[in-house]
Amino acid sequence: MTINQNTIIKDDNPLIRQKSLPVSLPLCNEDAQLLRDLFQYVKDSTDPEKAEKENLRAAVGISAIQVGIPKQLTAVVVNDIDNDGNDLHYEYMLANPRIISSSVQKSYLENGEGCLSVIDEHEGFVVRSARVKIQAYDLLTDKNVTIRARGYFAIVLQHEIDHFKGILFYDYINSKDPFAKVPGAIVI
Ligand code: CO
Repeated sequence: MTINQNTIIKDDNPLIRQKSLPVSLPLCNEDAQLLRDLFQYVKDSTDPEKAEKENLRAAVGISAIQVGIPKQLTAVVVNDIDNDGNDLHYEYMLANPRIISSSVQKSYLENGEGCLSVIDEHEGFVVRSARVKIQAYDLLTDKNVTIRARGYFAIVLQHEIDHFKGILFYDYINSKDPFAKVPGAIVI
């Protein structure tokens, strides 16, 4: 499947609000190929040459519903730096990811979130859990995985899993006070 700015559905398409269903495991060829295509999109989107040539907008994650397929499949590629300045790299091709626990402590990105399916600016804090524990099948390693995520990576995973519920990041922005400080929250 060709995935680019033209084939990614936007939030003016009601499909983006549709609930995604779990897939059967082991993955059928069609689902596995879709997951690989999603992953490839995210990888290529941060390569300036490919992005330009193939009309890709830079992303750290994409979910199947964003190409109009309501299945619980998502690909993420996240680079971050820990408190000691070490590089962190996470990449997954996830089927049926479930949040099995989440911290009471909150966190949000200082500059807000973005989404391949959202063109308009939506400014404001998107408050999420600071840490989440997720179980999923990961096609990249062909294993069932338990992911303990924190920081930016935890935000990305929650954003992608929200796509399965038809939720977009700006649904969480406090319309009366978009930049309301959240006591105790970690600002990223
Ligand atoms: Co998104």
